[in-house]
Amino acid sequence: MDERDLETHQPADERIQPPASFVEQANIADPAIADAFEKNGPSAWERAAELLDWDQEWETVLDDEDVWFADGTLNASYNCVDRHLDERKNQRALVWEGQRDETRTYTYLELAREVNEVAATLRDIGVEEDDVVTLHMPVVPELPIAMLACARIGAPHSVVYAGYAADALAERMNEAGSEYLLTCDGYYRRGEAVTLKNKTDTACVHVDNTVTTVVVDRLGDAYDCVLGENEYDYEQLRAAHAGEEVEPVERSTDDKLFLIYTSGTTGAPKRVTQTTGGYLSYAAWTSHAVLDVKPEDTYWCTADIGWITGHSYMVYGPLALGTTTVMYEGDMESASKTAVWELIEEHAVDIFYTSPTAIRTFMKRGEELPARSDLSSLRLLGTVGEPINPHTWWWFYEHIGNRECPIVDTWWQTETGGHLISTLPGVDDMKPGAAGPPLPGIGAKVVNTSGEPVEAGNGGYLVLDRPWPGMPRELSEGIRWADTDPKPLNLDEFEWAYPTEDGALVDEDGYVTILGRVDDVINVAGHRFGTMEIESAIVGVEGVAEAAVVSAERGPHERGMYAYVDLEDDYEENDRLRTAIHAAVGESIGRFARPDRIVFTPSLPKTRSGKIVRRLLEDVANDKELGDTSALRNPEVVGEIQSSIRDD
Ligand code: WT7
Repeated sequence: MDERDLETHQPADERIQPPASFVEQANIADPAIADAFEKNGPSAWERAAELLDWDQEWETVLDDEDVWFADGTLNASYNCVDRHLDERKNQRALVWEGQRDETRTYTYLELAREVNEVAATLRDIGVEEDDVVTLHMPVVPELPIAMLACARIGAPHSVVYAGYAADALAERMNEAGSEYLLTCDGYYRRGEAVTLKNKTDTACVHVDNTVTTVVVDRLGDAYDCVLGENEYDYEQLRAAHAGEEVEPVERSTDDKLFLIYTSGTTGAPKRVTQTTGGYLSYAAWTSHAVLDVKPEDTYWCTADIGWITGHSYMVYGPLALGTTTVMYEGDMESASKTAVWELIEEHAVDIFYTSPTAIRTFMKRGEELPARSDLSSLRLLGTVGEPINPHTWWWFYEHIGNRECPIVDTWWQTETGGHLISTLPGVDDMKPGAAGPPLPGIGAKVVNTSGEPVEAGNGGYLVLDRPWPGMPRELSEGIRWADTDPKPLNLDEFEWAYPTEDGALVDEDGYVTILGRVDDVINVAGHRFGTMEIESAIVGVEGVAEAAVVSAERGPHERGMYAYVDLEDDYEENDRLRTAIHAAVGESIGRFARPDRIVFTPSLPKTRSGKIVRRLLEDVANDKELGDTSALRNPEVVGEIQSSIRDD
């Protein structure tokens, strides 16, 4: 997306009030909250920190080094587990639904036991405070348990999404200097066993350190995985530590809670580091204020724990607040057509948080399916990951929420740790298509390339201009990420700024509509990909000279990915090359990153200085009218690409 595209959108115009029945019971229902934040500056954020138990209370809310709740100490595992035991040890903490109709539940007491045993296990295999433990697992209960066990002993975790390839896992372990890996022998997708351990074996060959691995047996008899040197069985180790208790380690507010890698504009994974005090306060606060979570609720977020949404809104936020969090093994597409609605009925889910991609899948399957289940337990709906268009919004509002549940369209990023732009469901009117105003205390501006705010209704670059407790350590260390790229955006006038790399517009009421990424990152079904990492995988295939990856429409309101590939002179396009390209992307990043379509081109459109003009390729893919191509070094290629797309 470039500046031209930023101008072509309309702000949302409909307003829908939150239902009175919701407002009456909302955690936050007083509209004065925004003013309270404006008046009190950073100290307004004390209300977030007060949602937690601190060993030592903070002295300064935000210090000169941008450390939140400075001098405070706490433990995240204590806050998510131990402190709930007095009041709700027999309440369910986790409800896990497997792909094969299995359900496993953990009360807070059961969760506490297993977290302690796994913490003892980690110490036993040598993990010390501040050692990074890599967790490469699908959504199984052992994953949140391992996260909390790491937090208990002050070892930052790095969860690497199970769909990532061996190379991608090794790269992340090396970047983090991680010597410990917890994984599964495999998992189930659409009823089929998928093995994982063979992949981690390959990855470990490429890890610089000697790796100690703990393996959860998920596949049972379906896969006999033989453990080698430095490899242990999760259950055996845990049994050896049965009943042991591990004192939660007192961590400073600024100590690392976890690392998570996301995609940036370079080929290398982008590390985001979250802190114990600031992040946990923010995850708890936004779960309370935006998702309206209450301890007695049953709350379901359909994300994968491997992404930030799962960290903040399946594990840390909900458990810090002492609620019941539901987890499903796998994505909504791989679940049976009725599973989602049956599970909402069965568990009397109060809050359902999902993605526009999942909702589109539900829509395609038809509204008769949800109508067969009793969804009346629902009180609030939420979406995350990509813009939700008004049509999809209304379907969700009517057919799932029965017009009785507000929808929160939550805008945020891996880098932000938690929601930043959303309506407060008990306070603000909703405007389908617009995420909402910045949350109380959040500073967001939409600016032009000179850094000046654009007029209401015009598109520009979304910039955050005030620190918030969920900001990652990198930002307090003064790293803006985007600084390292030649960026058109001038932020000199800002005292403090984080360029989000999203295009957006703000309307007269301050509601923000997100238009999409302005950098070389593309969002496919809520997954983020750096074009560079995919292109380097493709260029690694023998015969490929050059490649460019762009975002393309897959269907109405649905984005996919096209790869344009220019072959070396001696090579001709054929299915073998197509397969090799798919395999290369699958092997270096993961199958989930494979392009929807590979278009072989005689060459790629370039500026005179030799830069590939992705915008043109995007327009061709989306069958849009092309702008002026006269500035290209090779304008003739555009027509050739257009015809090869049509012929395909
Ligand atoms: C990018 C961040 C936030 C966790 C999941 C994705 C897009 C996210 C919305 C939304 C429009 C959204 C943005 C953002 N995005 N939420 N509600 N409306 N766009 O995290 O992988 O870090 O991706 O997702 O483009 O920059 P991520």
